[in-house]
Amino acid sequence: MSQKQENLIVVLDVGSAFTRVLAGDLNEGALRYRAHAVVESAGMRKGLIAELGPAARAVKAASDQAERQVRVNIDECLVGVGGPNVIGVNTTAGLNFGTRMREISKDDVTIAVERARGVSLPPDREILHLLTRQFVLDEQPGIHDPVGMVGSRLEVDLHMSTCSGSAQQSVVTCANRAGLEVTDTVFEALAAAEATLTADERELGVCVLDIGAHSTELVVFFEGAVAHTGSIPFGGQHFTNDLAVVLQMPVAQAEQLKLRYGHCVVTAVPQLDEVEIRSSQPHGETRMIRHRSVAEILEPRARELFDMVRRSLRDGGVLGALGAGVVLTGGGAVLPGLLDVTESILHVRARIGQPVQLSRMPPELTHPAYTTLVGMLLYAHRKRVTRTAENNSLRAKLRAIFAASL
Ligand SMILES: Nc1ncnc2c1ncn2[C@@H]1O[C@H](COP(=O)(O)OP(=O)(O)OP(=O)(O)O)[C@@H](O)[C@H]1O
Ligand SMILES: [Mg+2]
Repeated sequence: MSQKQENLIVVLDVGSAFTRVLAGDLNEGALRYRAHAVVESAGMRKGLIAELGPAARAVKAASDQAERQVRVNIDECLVGVGGPNVIGVNTTAGLNFGTRMREISKDDVTIAVERARGVSLPPDREILHLLTRQFVLDEQPGIHDPVGMVGSRLEVDLHMSTCSGSAQQSVVTCANRAGLEVTDTVFEALAAAEATLTADERELGVCVLDIGAHSTELVVFFEGAVAHTGSIPFGGQHFTNDLAVVLQMPVAQAEQLKLRYGHCVVTAVPQLDEVEIRSSQPHGETRMIRHRSVAEILEPRARELFDMVRRSLRDGGVLGALGAGVVLTGGGAVLPGLLDVTESILHVRARIGQPVQLSRMPPELTHPAYTTLVGMLLYAHRKRVTRTAENNSLRAKLRAIFAASL
């Protein structure tokens, strides 16, 4: 294995069903696919890491697979943070400059943001993302960068995406145990948004739902900024478990039944159709059940999921802000009928969110189960570009200061 490649970017998604690694690099200014690996996750419980050893072994297996493809050492990565513990908080704070108007400086912005983020959070809460929704200068809302503008009162609206500190640390420790240093973290729904939303959707108002196996993470954009983030302890595995319990079959068999015949709109399934359920045992019996009975089990669960989504949107004050509707992504999003259930409960249009195509990306990565992973790579790349631009501008400033002092 050769030495580290400087422009290689590696991202890691430790999901409750699958652990995924994706590597890309910069080629002539564009992000290019290099390798990916998917292994079954281990040591996960209810969307969180419950046993570090097995979880880290899954990460190591995925990272080794990717390493063999790129043929360079992979020793650092960006990791996704998700699970049912992510909570979004909106805060506002302001600065008064007295009766005289004055030009807003970078320091004024920093002070306003520091005041807004100063709200006390419950113990064990970490800020995952600190996102500016807007600045309000005097009476003018909707400002993205007030530096250089003139006014007498500056206000900032922030959105803070918070997560359990210990849950976040577990993902980092798990990567470390697999030999990977963690360079950054990203909320998984935010990453999914990066890979699938258009600028128009962000402006008009849109909700991205990343439906995984054990949890569903969500992010809402309105007027180009993040207005709400949250998570729901409910995912595709809950649909499978219901089938297993009601139809009295092993979970693995219920998963196969869901993948083959799953539907969550009862009336969309022909009344007289029957489906065959083969036993997983070598000489087990085969039985026939009504196809509709599968949908009769799945539809109430789907409605329950979207009732919870509706509650989260209402609590976040964004239920009426979805002009561009809802985008469903994650492996759980492709259950037939889910778009209809979304539209009937949230009364907005819905679509499936596939990831954008990267150069040389294999076709299987355009499945919604990879949207978060591809988005994580785009996010990591964007952060790297911003950091390089900031470093360059700092270097240019230092050069100018140095030249002036000669
Ligand atoms: N064709 C399909 N029909 C219905 N459900 C599907 C289909 N394909 C995948 N799923 C479901 O998607 C879920 C896995 O999704 P995904 O790979 O996004 O999860 P994950 O990222 O590992 O989990 P999490 O995000 O909760 O940590 C499983 O519950 C699986 O049953
Ligand atoms: Mg996931």
